[in-house]
Amino acid sequence: MRTQENIPVRLEDYRPFPFAISHASLVFDLHPTRTMVTARLIIDRRPYEWAKSEALKLDGIGLELQSIELDGRTLTAQDYLQEDGCLILKNVPDSFKLETKVAINPAENTALSGLYMSAGRFCTQCEAEGFRHMTFWPDRPDVMSRFHVRIEAPEAEFPTLLSNGNRVAIGQYEDGRHWAAWDDPHLKPSYLFALVAGGFDTLEDQFVTRSGRTVDLTIYVDKGAASRAIYAMDALKRSMKWDEEVFGREYDLDIFNIVAVSDFNFGAMENKGLNIFNSALLLADETTATDADFEAIEAVVAHEYFHNWSGNRVTCRDWFQLSLKEGFTVFRDQEFSADQRSRAVKRIKDVKALRARQFPEDSGPLAHPVRPKSYVKIDNFYTATIYEKGAEIIRVLQTLVGRDAFLDGANLYFDENDGTAATIEDWLHAMRTATGNPLHGIERWYDQAGTPCLEARSVFDGETKRLTIRFEQSTPDTPGQTGKSWVPLPIALAFFGQDGAPLNLRLADTEIAADDWLIPMSSSSLELQFEGAVERPVVSYLRGFSAPVRLVTDHSDADLALLAACDTDPFVRWEATQTIARNTLIAVANSLAAGQEADVSQDLARAFQGALADAARDPAFAALLLRLPDVSELMQVQPLCDPSNLLEARAFVRSLLAEQLDRELSDCFARYDPAQAFSPSAAAAGQRALMAACLDLLCASGTDRAAMRAENTFFAARNMTDMISALDGLSQFGGPRYHAALAAFKGKFSDNALVMDKWFRVQAMAICEDPLLTFKKLRSDPSFTLLNPNRVRALGGAFASGNPAAFHRADGAGYQVVGELIADVDRTNGALAARLGTVFESCSRVNEARQKLARGTLQALLDRNSLSANTREILSKIYDGLMA
Ligand code: TRP
Ligand code: ZN
Repeated sequence: MRTQENIPVRLEDYRPFPFAISHASLVFDLHPTRTMVTARLIIDRRPYEWAKSEALKLDGIGLELQSIELDGRTLTAQDYLQEDGCLILKNVPDSFKLETKVAINPAENTALSGLYMSAGRFCTQCEAEGFRHMTFWPDRPDVMSRFHVRIEAPEAEFPTLLSNGNRVAIGQYEDGRHWAAWDDPHLKPSYLFALVAGGFDTLEDQFVTRSGRTVDLTIYVDKGAASRAIYAMDALKRSMKWDEEVFGREYDLDIFNIVAVSDFNFGAMENKGLNIFNSALLLADETTATDADFEAIEAVVAHEYFHNWSGNRVTCRDWFQLSLKEGFTVFRDQEFSADQRSRAVKRIKDVKALRARQFPEDSGPLAHPVRPKSYVKIDNFYTATIYEKGAEIIRVLQTLVGRDAFLDGANLYFDENDGTAATIEDWLHAMRTATGNPLHGIERWYDQAGTPCLEARSVFDGETKRLTIRFEQSTPDTPGQTGKSWVPLPIALAFFGQDGAPLNLRLADTEIAADDWLIPMSSSSLELQFEGAVERPVVSYLRGFSAPVRLVTDHSDADLALLAACDTDPFVRWEATQTIARNTLIAVANSLAAGQEADVSQDLARAFQGALADAARDPAFAALLLRLPDVSELMQVQPLCDPSNLLEARAFVRSLLAEQLDRELSDCFARYDPAQAFSPSAAAAGQRALMAACLDLLCASGTDRAAMRAENTFFAARNMTDMISALDGLSQFGGPRYHAALAAFKGKFSDNALVMDKWFRVQAMAICEDPLLTFKKLRSDPSFTLLNPNRVRALGGAFASGNPAAFHRADGAGYQVVGELIADVDRTNGALAARLGTVFESCSRVNEARQKLARGTLQALLDRNSLSANTREILSKIYDGLMA
């Protein structure tokens, strides 16, 4: 039966809320199993004609109603209706005060949405629809109110009581309870509400804004963990400064608090003045966190801080506009990281992530536009498309109008929409107004799902010495969406001579000449002619990945080799190397599948040789060059594949490279000094990444010498990055060395859950021994728990996405164990189970026999009546896309 739960919400049905709530005064009387929440609301009917006869409809789920008073009069059961997660009051006056009192049970809240307990503390997660699990409220982002909050709790257990805004009063009762009152002067929607209560250690600092205001910064962490928040604090101060300098945006409260919690469904949350973080994205020191962790912490601290303007001061009218805040804020954090670290390396990493997560989403059963037309569960729409493709659209916009004009547009957007709940139209309006650029067709980036494909063909006429380039773009059909039109694409171009030197060419029949070009494409096809070359130039397309498209070129192997060696744009150098690798790997996979001997071209080894020879100049970049595309990426270019065939091909090519480049790799590896003092800087991290890339390839040789190197690296490691690199290396061998290292690791870190997540992840992704058996062992390890999302992802997510040959086993056993895990998680946390369920999306790219097995597993899950609406939405979409 269809319930209210799975009727889609549609963008076209948007209507403002008929009432305004100017003030909300909330009292939380905290008790782990029975918290009383009293809400006093000042409500006014809004002056729309249609609103005159509207009932007041408030959201509220799982609330044990104690009492309702309207203007001081206690209502009885005849005065209101409770249905489908709503409280409905008909015939309310135009202006009135409403008081509701409810009881809730935070200790039993395992879904981690609303008020819940984590490690004995109270905390909240309200985005997107958590607030309705605490009190009756119009739980939608366009209802913005001034919140006053009073928190009461036993002082001994819960000494710290936090909410948004400023703490305005505190007090004690005689029975050992105490209270704190918080007032947030900024209007905000319910999803930005937060409350925290518990005992913490703190790290404190200050930031002076450019207008001279001092902001007190506090990070609240587990007892004994304050020193592990130092890096996050530093990242916060750098973020605050960066947003002032680049976007002209200053912080607007006297305090800024961050709390780390261990049980959290997502990375972090931008609640006004009180960000709440998954501790995995906040706590770091060299002995417990990898460089990737440091980098992620810097990015997420910045992301949540930047939301203070892109999200909080200007919020979203409805959840269809989610990318308005998320895409823009991801763009902002990407730019911040690029400025703090290496812009080129950051861009390559972002493109890698986009291709690994968003491209498959956009070409499979879960494809949806950056602004969807409808959704069932909004939690399921916090996707790579909304975030990462959304950020790419902002980047396309910036490239089209130029950096300075773009910043003017952003400024105008903030100023025009400050304090309001805005739409993507508002954003585009500000961009157009400030830049004078009509931005034709830009809306289609938001409305059309699917990754556009850009085909580029070039012909050089030896007689006229003219180079003609023809571009064609098309966007493929996606579920429920066909017949798409062109999108505006900025195409960055340059040319190289056969000697690898950059060429300055002239646009045919004009005086315009340049070394590099930015061509805005606003049509389905485009032809350009260039003159000035004496022989056929090699074209460098889409420099810096100037648009998020699949690029198809007519580059020959020799062209790719030239670009890999000589391009002045690091992205294209990397891309050319990757393309050589992809072509090589696919050719080998096809030979192996046909039972033929694989014939491997030397281009790849030569490109790697070049990377190694040049490695000292930019170790982080070299490390990226030395990583072959992984199996999941190959699955995207080999339709209806057999993942184990791809894995075999990859292992074969890796062992060949390890053998051929043994000397260069060994030398490069040996240049790394494991004893050098640690710095989390991008430069130092680059050296570690280069060592890791060399070790990884050396281990592919399968030799004892390589295994010993990994083992020595593990036991000599002075930081977590090197430890994990060594463990990854050892995991290629399996056997006693690997297990001894794992045991040593567990012995050292068994009391640190975040580090133990890495112990799970390494093993879940290991291809040695029997990965399925390993999965089952880890699943029944006493330290595995279904209640901690990080742990669930460290096992289930890592196995299904990071170990594709095992997940896609020919006998379907990989699907089965992951399916069972999803069912188990779903009993306590539907949003987490649904997210884990997205791993089955990759089944749309495997061969028919496997698709059928996956379909069987999904069928069994969908047959369960108890399956959450979240998980049902995801799994049924994937199921529908699989071969029957
Ligand atoms: N807005 C958060 C961000 O910074 C995302 C988020 C945090 C979230 N917690 C959540 C989304 C829970 C859905 C459910 O990106
Ligand atoms: Zn965000």
